[in-house]
Amino acid sequence: MQDILAKLESMRAGARLGGGEKRIAGQHAKGKLTARERIDLFLDEGSFEEFDMFVEHRCIDFGMEGQKVPGDGVVTGHGTVNGRLVFVFSQDFTVFGGSLSEAHAEKICKIMDQALKVGAPVIGLNDSGGARIQEGVASLGGYAEVFQRNVDASGVIPQISLIMGPCAGGAVYSPAMTDFIFMVKDSSYMFVTGPDVVKTVTHEVVTAEELGGAITHSTKSGVADLAFENDVEALLQLRRFVDFLPSSNREKAPVRPCTDPLDRDDLSLDTLVPENPNKPYDMKELILKIVDEGDFFELQPEYAKNIIIGFGRVNGSTVGVVANQPMVLAGCLDIDSSKKAARFVRFCDAFEIPILTLVDVPGFMPGTSQEYNGIIKHGAKLLYAYAEATVPKVTVITRKAYGGAYDVMSSKHLRGDINYAWPTAEIAVMGSKGAVEIIFRADIGDAEKIEARTEEYRQKFANPFVAASRGYIDDVIMPHGTRRRVAKALSMLKNKQLQNPWRKHDNIPL
Ligand code: HXC
Repeated sequence: MQDILAKLESMRAGARLGGGEKRIAGQHAKGKLTARERIDLFLDEGSFEEFDMFVEHRCIDFGMEGQKVPGDGVVTGHGTVNGRLVFVFSQDFTVFGGSLSEAHAEKICKIMDQALKVGAPVIGLNDSGGARIQEGVASLGGYAEVFQRNVDASGVIPQISLIMGPCAGGAVYSPAMTDFIFMVKDSSYMFVTGPDVVKTVTHEVVTAEELGGAITHSTKSGVADLAFENDVEALLQLRRFVDFLPSSNREKAPVRPCTDPLDRDDLSLDTLVPENPNKPYDMKELILKIVDEGDFFELQPEYAKNIIIGFGRVNGSTVGVVANQPMVLAGCLDIDSSKKAARFVRFCDAFEIPILTLVDVPGFMPGTSQEYNGIIKHGAKLLYAYAEATVPKVTVITRKAYGGAYDVMSSKHLRGDINYAWPTAEIAVMGSKGAVEIIFRADIGDAEKIEARTEEYRQKFANPFVAASRGYIDDVIMPHGTRRRVAKALSMLKNKQLQNPWRKHDNIPL
């Protein structure tokens, strides 16, 4: 018996070594942790239960029958993050470059199937050279099996990808179908075709980092939600992030004890909106003053900065925050910001996370670039996402809510549950000046007349009371009491029930 136990222990020790000391040292030399070190850092201490440690590939071509490494380049299993169950796979670059074989894919699929059954998130720590080249089509089949499960799990359990090394070719499409993608700066990249192919086909000369590094995807393409400095920061922030999410669409997000008073008035908010309607202010200040303890997990902070998205808590419960940012492009909606916010709204709706929308939007961004690139379809995504969302929706208009963008931003008409406005709100078809220049075009040469008309229009429409008189706004609230009013609204809506008509699936403008 002792022999068998000793043998098991030695087999385990062998598997834990992955591709061996030399390759582990190589991984460390690149500033990267190993697959197992990453899991240890991410999960609660001692909580990891590993599966399939002894799985091996079945390839017999190109001398592979003599090169078997137990575990086959991916460590899989489950554990807890602050006590809550999560499933995890962590690709081991020290074993065939973390490349995906048929057996490697089966291991990932096994934990995805289990996660779906029990209702727990799947976290992928990606570090892989892509399809196991020696296996050919068997590897492609393996990828497709993972893809199918990504789709089956979408909207049922949260799926998060942390890219911690190469991720190229068709391999990018599994992370792309997960809910959130985080990357590590300087050591990770994602692209459909690498720099060499790009050079051959389009004659562009570009480095891997420029083409698909963490900075590129978190600032230019919007593919990544966040870019972290190193593995350690990424894994610790991922732990913090998981705490905001429910385990599945069958459960609510965890409620954290709240010590931040809900009736905490903030007098500084009374002067947040400047006198001059064209002067910007920082909407993040309002977010931080509403959420518990100013704890806000912002996503995509460097991409489409004219809209802010992220998670906070009110009275301990998670809320998804969507807010126009007047500091960037005056907070207008354009293609990128519409897509960014629409996907976030849909995530919140799928996982029963209430949405708090803070509005200061002068309209949609004009221009040929926007029109040629399809602002009509992309802007419609956000409108569609808000309209289909059945979760509690609380809206606060701080200043401008003009034109179509007023409708889009979780208005009453799109089933906004509670819609508040600050006294500084201007809910109108457009700004007073633009409006007067259209309806009093004949007077355009007469500056005095135009000024008087503008003032008249402003008095009449540039306020929240016309909308309030129609019931489009439930109340005009004091800025300093915003947290209190939002908290009360969310508490009232806690057991909201609303269902969309049955259908096979909807047809959001893609
Ligand atoms: C088998 C692989 C591999 C792969 C790397 N290795 N990628 N083995 N299949 N896809 C092995 C290497 O042979 C090497 O083994 C070890 O992993 C480490 O790789 P290095 O090249 O030494 O590391 P590095 O210099 O850091 O470069 C990493 C890399 C490079 C950029 C990922 O290895 C690379 O370009 N690999 C091939 C990438 C690729 O073309 N993949 C297929 C893409 S198509 P030894 O024994 O020497 O240490 C694809 C389609 C998916 O993925 C389709 C889904 C639908």
